[in-house]
Amino acid sequence: MKILQSKALFQHNGSDVFLYTLKNKAGVEVCISNLGAIIQSFKVPDRTGNVIDIVLGFDTMEQYLSSDYLNTSSYLGAVVGRYANRVGNACIEIDGQTFQLSSNMSPHQIHGGYEGFDSKVWHVENTDDLSVGKLKMSYLSKDAEEGYPGNLTVSICFSLNDENELIIDTEAITDKSTAINLTHHDYFNLHGSGRIEDHWVQIPSGFYLGQHPDNLANGEILSVLGTKYDFKSSKQIKEDWDPVSGYDQSFVLDKEYGVYGKAATAYSDKSGIKLEVFTDEPTVHFYTGKHLGIADARNGAFYGPFSGFCFETQHHCNAVNIPEFPSTILRPEQVYRHKTGYCVSSQ
Ligand code: BGC
Repeated sequence: MKILQSKALFQHNGSDVFLYTLKNKAGVEVCISNLGAIIQSFKVPDRTGNVIDIVLGFDTMEQYLSSDYLNTSSYLGAVVGRYANRVGNACIEIDGQTFQLSSNMSPHQIHGGYEGFDSKVWHVENTDDLSVGKLKMSYLSKDAEEGYPGNLTVSICFSLNDENELIIDTEAITDKSTAINLTHHDYFNLHGSGRIEDHWVQIPSGFYLGQHPDNLANGEILSVLGTKYDFKSSKQIKEDWDPVSGYDQSFVLDKEYGVYGKAATAYSDKSGIKLEVFTDEPTVHFYTGKHLGIADARNGAFYGPFSGFCFETQHHCNAVNIPEFPSTILRPEQVYRHKTGYCVSSQ
């Protein structure tokens, strides 16, 4: 499957920004940029053959850099790193040494700091890969960027197969021990527009992560039984939710650590579109978009609260500060690997 590359759209910090189109035989089309490795659109035929864009996004890549948008801290469709979600007190300790990180959500850090991987221009290494259906891009995060130790080289490879699965394979290496926890922050709306609370969602997880009132993971692992966090059987998002806050919580997946398997399923009665998320990561963070408030988005739309939901596959939030959680320290002799797949169908 061939991937089409746009002409250079504009330059950001001296590098060209492109948009790449991945299209399969079933009519699924995904547009991805090397700006923030952003999935800008994900078009899927609904049950009647109408094509629906199932992710939130902007018409142009320039809009992802406007200060009005960046001030909303929404991370639409972007890769998030070096460390997804909140790092308590923006502080980490590795081998007895303390590193003070940038604190963009005082006193914590969120999603990698003031200028995370979501707003970097990634380098598309080998355009020959495009002809074999692989879009591979990399980014060098320099030692001390946003406070993290080590030169970290990250690569992301996107591919779309004829079984309608978009696979995101991420790898990273470092020259000093560092902390890493990457995710992709796509907001889905399988209706194509409007609010999301009547989507059906299933998450194969018996336990969720406890949080402090400011949403920082506190180290507790709690049973979902008898709580609103029980998504073991499919239910509508609104069935048990708090309509003011929605969901902003991590779920520990039932599968074996490190094994690629199901993280979540979502379904829209309106379009008949189903999304299945697979990952080799141990948790999925389910966020229903409470803080959205984005003007002038695709086709002039306003994205208000609860107009998209994210399934952020990752290691346990704040694991770097919680020794009982699986380690998120990457050593120079190791390779970080993360695979997530989004599989779509309509019925
Ligand atoms: C976080 C939310 C945050 C959102 C946008 C999610 O991953 O859990 O608390 O508001 O990202 O930054």
